[in-house]
Formats: sequence, structure tokens, C-alpha cells
Amino acid sequence: MTGDPGNDRLWGGRFSEATNRFVEEFTASVGFDQRLYACDITGSVAHARMLARCGMLTGAECDAIVGGLEDIRIDIERGEFAWIDELEDVHMNIEARLTERIGAVGKKLHTARSRNDQVATDVRLYLRAEIDAITAEIERLANALIDCAEREAQTIMPGYTHLQPAQPVTFGHHLLAWVEMLLRDRERLADCRKRVNRMPLGAAALAGTSFPIDRAYTAELLGFESVCENSLDAVSDRDFAIEFTAAASLAMMHLSRFSEELVLWSSPQFGFVELPDRFCTGSSIMPQKKNPDVPELVRGKSGRVFGDLVALLTLMKGQPLAYNKDNQEDKEPLFDAAVTLGQCLRAYADLVPHIEIRRERMRAAARDGYTTATDLADYLVRKGVPFRDAHAIVGRAVRHASEQGVDLDALALETLREFAPQIEDDVFAVLTLEGSVAARDHVGGTAPEQVRAAAGRARARLSAVGAK
Ligand code: ARG
Repeated sequence: MTGDPGNDRLWGGRFSEATNRFVEEFTASVGFDQRLYACDITGSVAHARMLARCGMLTGAECDAIVGGLEDIRIDIERGEFAWIDELEDVHMNIEARLTERIGAVGKKLHTARSRNDQVATDVRLYLRAEIDAITAEIERLANALIDCAEREAQTIMPGYTHLQPAQPVTFGHHLLAWVEMLLRDRERLADCRKRVNRMPLGAAALAGTSFPIDRAYTAELLGFESVCENSLDAVSDRDFAIEFTAAASLAMMHLSRFSEELVLWSSPQFGFVELPDRFCTGSSIMPQKKNPDVPELVRGKSGRVFGDLVALLTLMKGQPLAYNKDNQEDKEPLFDAAVTLGQCLRAYADLVPHIEIRRERMRAAARDGYTTATDLADYLVRKGVPFRDAHAIVGRAVRHASEQGVDLDALALETLREFAPQIEDDVFAVLTLEGSVAARDHVGGTAPEQVRAAAGRARARLSAVGAK
């Protein structure tokens, strides 16, 4: 209506007054969703090509739109695009700029679509790319750990339970435990990716569109595996984002545990590893300090990713079908989870190859902790002593040795025989650290040969195709 003060925003037709300034700021998402610009443009280009193929745009119109969008992409990449809050979000910023650049034909782009299917598509394209980048970082880190495990296949350290020295293990074996966790993290992401990779476009606002669209064609252009079957579901659910954030939380939990070990191991009390100076910082007051900042930060950042997961779950739980503005709140937690996990993996993939291993400290800790006591008990069992009795006998021997301040294998044979007459001089082979680890010689065990074989298998699994 001419002369109406109205509202000049893209959707302003039915409004009789301008948006309250604060509400405009409050409802705008462009401050954070501009991160989606590349996906938004890629999605729009495919949509325009589909419209042309199905007769809703002429070839010339399609070319003008696609050319305009690609020019906008370049502007944004060069930092020459002015994002405008009044235009609310990334979608309307780009669309408005398109029309400014190429004229009225730009207004035809939004035929047969809505921001609801548009944003859901953008988020899926974004997440798919993030999953691929994160997967690559997981693989880089896992490879670094496998390399180290192979080098340290016979390095002996104490294995712990309750953080008390338990039994000797090889350091390579310990590292391969982390590789297993990373492989599962990668598997979870690959599985999640299947459900991310379905296309909402065509759902339009909620019910579909009355135009003769070809969804399969758009999906093919965008590399989606299939289209979302139900339009109401397509525009509204964000379970794929929740699934990703859950997988990211598990990966962060693993990285946080790994961090905890690096913090412990790099402390003077353990002294098992030395982190490279360039990954640490000092203290402004205590000159001797070298702090393991990277592991501490990774451990700390796990909390925000868990928070992102809870935020997304809570965001969805009260929403009726179909799209609600609540969903605009999906972006910051999702971006945060993806960026945080990607950065933490990157930091560790860069750091792990440069960790210095203090083999003699590990070995000394394994010796001091009576970690071969179980081997002595097993030895007695092989000599016919029931395990429970053997356990008690060895417990007494350990108490005696610790009162003397010596290791089990420093006790004289005569002394050992006072605890169990079945003990003979072949006992000392059993009490060595090497003997202990070599005896655990089965798949999943800590024997050096098993560690080398397991590292080889892990490498093969890591490079297996179709892991995506
Ligand atoms: N910025 C919005 C979001 O992130 C885009 C979709 C808006 N749709 C709507 N009907 N208001 O969810």
C-alpha cells in the first residue's frame, strides 16, 4: 500500500510499523550465522539451477543469479561484504545483496523455498564439512600415536588402577588404548554423517511447495545422499546436530582424559614425558615453572562441549512441529562444539610427535611399584598353590620387601622361600619387568610383539576406505 509507513524488511508487507530497534537486534542472527555464508551460497546456486531445469527460471536468469552469488562469495572472502543487522540473518543479507547487484531477477531465487528449509540445509552442509575436517584431524592424531606406539613397543611403564602402580605395561600398549578411543570417535562421526547428509530443501516453510521442483536433482548437485522424506520433520528437527554434539562430547571426554595423563606425566613427580617448550607457558612469578597449558585447556574445554550438548537437547525438547524460532539458537552451540573439537584435535596432532619420552623414569616407576607381584602369584599357581593362597603369600612378601625398602627381585631366594617353599631359583625370570610384559602374549595384551602387531592393525583400520 503506498503511503503506508509500514516496514521495509524483506517480509514487511503485512506490517504497519517498523520493528522495535531492540527487537531487531534481539532477533538478528547475522552476527553468528554469517559463518554459514559459503554453505548458503552453495545451496542457493544448486536451488537456482534446479529452478532453471524445472522451468521456473530461464537460462539467462539462472546465469545472472549464479554469477551474482559467486561474486558475493568473493566479496565475503575478501572481507568486502558489509553484514547488516537489520537484514536479520545470513540468508536475507545475501539475498538482498544479490538483488542489489543483479536487479529484480534476484528476487526470483526464493521461489519454491523458505528460510526454514534453507537454514536446515545450510546447517547440514556446514556440519558435513566440519565432520570431514574433524575426521582428518582424528586420523592425524591417531597416526601420530601409532608411530609413537611402534617406537615405544618395548618401553616399560607401570600400568595403573586407582592411580596406584598395578602391573607393568608397555608404553606402546598404553598409547594404543588412546588410538582405540579415537577410532571409535571416528566411527561415531561417520555414522552420524549419514544422517546429516540428507537434504531438507523442498520442504519450503513446512508443507512442501506447489511448484514442480526436482529435489533429487538439487540433492545430487549438493552431494546429499538422499532427501528428507517428510517436510515437517525436515525443517524442524535438529537431532543430527545433537547427535554430532554427543559424538563430539565423547571425543572431548577422551581428549580430556588424555590431557589428564599428560598433565600428570609431565609433572616432576612422574617425569614420564617432557612436553615441547613451544606448547607450554611459564609463570609470571615463579621462574622455574613450565606449565602444560595445552592439555589443561583441552581438559577445560571439554566442559563447554558437554554444555553445548545439553543446550541443544534442551532447545529441542519443548518444540511442537514444525519450525520455531527457537531453532535459531542451534547455531552457536553447534559451531562451538565443532570448532572446539577441531582445535583440540589439531593441538594434539601437532604436539604428540614432539613429546619426549623419559624411558628410564617410566621403568623406575614400574620397578618401585611392586608391579610384578601378580606374576609371582601366577608363578605359585603354576607350582600348584591355589590362587587365593598365592595372593596372600605374595602380599606378605611385598609387605616384607617394602619394610626393607627393596624390590621383590632383590630378596634372596632363601627369604622368598620362607613365604612359600615352592619357590625355586627360576622365580627371578618371572619377577623381571620384561618377563612380565612378554608373558601377556595374546591379542589385546601388552607384550611388545602384540603391540607391534596391534599397531599395524590399527594403521590398516585407520586407512581403510569407506570409513567416512
Ligand atoms: N535465522 C533463522 C534461523 O536461524 C532462519 C530461519 C528463519 N525462519 C523464520 N521463519 N523466521 O533459524
